[in-house]
Order: sequence, then C-alpha cells, then structure tokens
Amino acid sequence: MNKPLITIAIDGFSSSGKSTMAKVLARNIGYAYIDSGAMYRTVTLFALENNLIVDGKIDEAKLQKFLPSIEIKFHVNSLTCASEAMLNGRNVEREIREMRVSNNVSAIAALPFVRHELVAQQQAMGKEKGIVMDGRDIGTTVFPDAEMKVYVNASPETRAQRRFDELQAKGQQVSYDDVYKNVCERDYIDQNRAESPLRQATDAHLLDNSQMTVEEQDKWLLNLYDKIIAQQK
Ligand code: DC
Repeated sequence: MNKPLITIAIDGFSSSGKSTMAKVLARNIGYAYIDSGAMYRTVTLFALENNLIVDGKIDEAKLQKFLPSIEIKFHVNSLTCASEAMLNGRNVEREIREMRVSNNVSAIAALPFVRHELVAQQQAMGKEKGIVMDGRDIGTTVFPDAEMKVYVNASPETRAQRRFDELQAKGQQVSYDDVYKNVCERDYIDQNRAESPLRQATDAHLLDNSQMTVEEQDKWLLNLYDKIIAQQK
C-alpha cells in the first residue's frame, strides 16, 4: 500500500543545518524540497541589484511595485540533483548565499508585503502535500496543519562555525567574527520581527543538533517520519 503523503515543516535558526537535513529527508522519502529562505534571499538579491537598498535602507515603495515582476523558481541541477534558485530565469543559487545578501535578507524578510507574497507562493507549492519545506515560519504560518513539524536549534557558536566553513569551502573571503556577528543579528531580527517571528510551533518536535553528527540527525528525522506515517489513518 502506498504511504499517505504528508507535509513536513522544518523551522529553525540560521545555519542550524535544517536545509541539509531537509534535503536528505526529501530525497530519502521521494518528496519535493523547498528552501523558503532561498526565496527571501532571491528577493534581497533583486533589491540589491536594482539599487533598492542603499546604505542598508530599503526603498519599500519601489520594492512593492517591482514585487510582481520578480519570478522565483527552483530548478533541479541534473549533475548534482540539487535544487537551485532562479530569478527571472537566471540561476542565482551562488549569489544568494553571498554575505551582501545575508547582511540584508532579514530586513527584507521582515517586510509584511514581501512575506504575504512569498507565503502565498509557498502555500501554492505545497497544495498537493508530499513536500519538505524549511524556513522560519513554515510550521506556524505557511503550513500550520503540517503533519510533521520539526524545530531545529544549535548554539550560535556552532552555527557560525558551520556557516564559516561553508563559505570558506566556496572560496569566499570572510572572517569568523563577521559570520558570528551576522548569525547573532539575524537570530535577533528573526525572533523579534512583528510579522511571523521565528517561534517553535507548540506541536513541533525539538531537535538540538549541536552535538549530533549529520548521520545521527538524518536518522532521527527518518525515525520521526516513520512514526508519524504509522499514525496516519
Ligand atoms: O534559512 P536562510 O538563512 O537562508 O534564510 C534567510 C533569511 O530569510 C533569514 O534571515 C530569515 C528569512 N526567512 C524567513 O523570514 N522566513 C522563512 N520562512 C525563511 C527564511
């Protein structure tokens, strides 16, 4: 008998490893994977490229006017099987991970008109279930009825080290201190914004992976999925 399709929401702090584990889980169970953070990053890149952010100040009126002309899609790279963000038909997967985007994305993600538009797009992507989506508000706002919700956390030091290693591996010149500062700033903004702040949904399962290996966390997630599927009627 086919397993019932469910919706899986994975939320947590930046660099908590949620995207990595969400991707592996989606691959293991044959689900679609959507990185909702990549969508906020893509809007941020668009704003930077069109001079809508000057000295950290966002031209909100212009961004709101341009928003309908920003088309965000995901394309599966046939070589790596990774899902890559496309901005109006251009592959921007690498650019959206750069520090200039990381430094501005929380402010863009705090704008209610941006959130309303992207949340609507995310809900449309998950209409048929069979999806793993990671972000900050997936279990609380985007899919409050998701059958499986996970809230991931790890210490800011562990998360900054992970992000630093990742950027270095990509050849980007950054200092650990700058990355740590960016992680702490984003934690603060993500938790304190008025619109859909980062919160653990009351029915989310907490996963603190500070002391876990990648294999351990993948196994933890798969066990939880099996348990939840067994409970579905
Ligand atoms: O997961 P990430 O670091 O790539 O996310 C980038 C930013 O986007 C992060 O600062 C918070 C924001 N974000 C959000 O507000 N809501 C989401 N569902 C996903 C990300």
